[in-house]
Amino acid sequence: MLKVGFVGWRGMVGSVLMQRMMEENDFALIEPQFFTTSQVGGKAPNVGKDSAPLKDAMSIVDLKAMDAIVSCQGGDYTSEIFPKLRAEGWNGHWIDAASTLRMEKDAVIILDPVNMHVIQDAYAQGNKNWVGGNCTVSLMLMALNGLFKANLVQWATSMTYQAASGAGAQNMRELLKQMGEAHFAASSLLADPASAILDIDRTVAGTLRDDKFPTSNFGVPLAGSLIPWIDKDLGNGQSKEEWKGGVETNKILGREANPIVIDGLCVRIGAMRCHSQALTIKLTKNVPLDEINQMLAEANQWAKVIPNEREASMRELTPAAVTGTLNTPVGRLRKLSMGDDYLSAFTVGDQLLWGAAEPLRRMLRILIE
Ligand code: HSE
Repeated sequence: MLKVGFVGWRGMVGSVLMQRMMEENDFALIEPQFFTTSQVGGKAPNVGKDSAPLKDAMSIVDLKAMDAIVSCQGGDYTSEIFPKLRAEGWNGHWIDAASTLRMEKDAVIILDPVNMHVIQDAYAQGNKNWVGGNCTVSLMLMALNGLFKANLVQWATSMTYQAASGAGAQNMRELLKQMGEAHFAASSLLADPASAILDIDRTVAGTLRDDKFPTSNFGVPLAGSLIPWIDKDLGNGQSKEEWKGGVETNKILGREANPIVIDGLCVRIGAMRCHSQALTIKLTKNVPLDEINQMLAEANQWAKVIPNEREASMRELTPAAVTGTLNTPVGRLRKLSMGDDYLSAFTVGDQLLWGAAEPLRRMLRILIE
């Protein structure tokens, strides 16, 4: 049985990974060893089978005994530990949720329903470094898989509506605190049906701008507002999140030598853990909408096509409907006024599932099977 070390399994992505692995009975197929940075010797989590006490996540000797290591511990851990392990001659599979190694030549960005061929080629060539993609990119590719498969995308722009979870667990808590504060400030006015809406609005705006409004994680209000910048400023007007859209898409598709131009604008909104994105896609040729719908629906079992109708869009194409599921519905499909080869689309996906944990879980399965 493959000896698999888990690091960072207690964090948000790690916990989702554990939950999914239990649901799919993955632990029955491996010998898990849980690592810790703080409780060496502690009891391993209950994953439906016994495993040895926790080992030290900083111990190269203990890590080296693993056939594969799955890390959800974050980029700093990867930067510190991964090079040391390889320098010590460790030849196991490194499966990582952090972005640190993503663009390295000897790492593959894993999203098997979309790029199984890239994974298999790399595996055959002895690749051992497997990294989960940026959540927004992975979710976009899951939903639009059919169009990319058919080579129908000449270029695309993605305008995103990204959830708090992408910024971290503390940010999710802060979003809720902000919502609570905004509600609290207006609660007595709200309770009075005769109060004026502009008084309510003025009170809420004053609260959002108050120095005491809880913003230590986001830096600014998100509840009742939005944040039109995600990740670092690259200094050329583009955010790092926007840059990832192009480079990661092409790396995932194995098209670095012949890239498709993907660019857009990434925005944080007050959803909990589902990223949404509106896409404008320039098609390589004019294909009828019913054929597009069929290609999208058939590309993988998760990319459900939602009819471009008001009721269906409002009910099925939202973070509230999709959260906690593996579905990556795609809808609002129509040809834009710019011409028959301009397609609009809107998609939603759980940022912690297909956006983070699920590709790692499935990579482990690929190694086992
Ligand atoms: N960078 C993403 C976000 C999350 O901030 O929403 C992880 O890919």
